[in-house]
Amino acid sequence: MKFIFAKNPEEVAQISSQIFIDAIKDNPSIHLCLATGSTPVEMYQKLIESNKSGEISFKDVQTFNLDNYIGIPVEDENNYEAFMRDNLFDHIDLPKENWRVPTSDKDRAEKFCEEYEEEIDKMGIDLCLLGVGENGHIAFNEPADKHFPYTQIIDLTEETIEVNSRFFDNIEDVPTKAVTMGIGSIMKAKKIVLIATGQKKAPAMEKLYREVCVDPQFPISMLYLHPDVTIITDSIEA
Ligand code: F6R
Repeated sequence: MKFIFAKNPEEVAQISSQIFIDAIKDNPSIHLCLATGSTPVEMYQKLIESNKSGEISFKDVQTFNLDNYIGIPVEDENNYEAFMRDNLFDHIDLPKENWRVPTSDKDRAEKFCEEYEEEIDKMGIDLCLLGVGENGHIAFNEPADKHFPYTQIIDLTEETIEVNSRFFDNIEDVPTKAVTMGIGSIMKAKKIVLIATGQKKAPAMEKLYREVCVDPQFPISMLYLHPDVTIITDSIEA
C-alpha cells in the first residue's frame, strides 16, 4: 500500500485526478469504478475541466459506481445516480450507455446485485476510486465480522446513518439499506486509488497507516490484501 500525504483537499484532488487523467490517456477505453460522497467532488471537477479542454475524452470509457441507497427515487438529489449526473456524467462526453450506477429500486435490488457482479466479471475494472467512512467503511461495506465477496444488499450502521444525515432534512429520511459492491468486487479492480480529506478522517487514516494489519471491523484495512492500492490524504502527516 502506497501513501501520498497531501497538503490540503485541493492537492488530494489534483494528485488523484492526474492519476485518472493519465490512465485515460493511456487507455481511452478504460473501465473505471467511481465513488460518490463529498470527497471526490473536487476531483470530478478537475476531470470535467480536463474533458472540456480536450485533454481527455470519456467517449470510450466505461464506468461502474460502487453503491446506492435503496428507496430513494432517481430524481432525488440524494440518489447516487442523480449525484453522479450532477457532479460528473452530465458535464463530460461519457455516453449514457457507458455508465452504471447500482439500482435504488428495492424490488429490483436482489436481481441487480447478481447481474452487476456478472458484468464486473465479464468486463473487468482497471482503476477504482474509493472514499472512506469515518468508521473505515469502503463503499457501504460496514465494520463487521463477515464480509461479502460480491455485490450485496446491506444494512447501514447507525453511525453511517448519522454521518450521512447531513445530506437529508431529517435523520429519519436516511435510508437504512443500500446496494454495494462487496469487498471482493472491489478487490477485482486492477488498481485502487483511495482519497480521504479533512480531520474527520484522521482517526481512520492514522489507524490504517500505523497498525498495518487486516481487521474486518475496519474494512479499509482489507485493502492491505490488494497488490496495487494508493491512498492519497491530507488528514494525517507521515
Ligand atoms: C460512496 C461510498 C462511501 C463514501 C464514504 C465517504 O460511494 O462508497 O464509502 O466514500 O462514505 O464519504 P464522504 O466522501 O462524503 O466523506
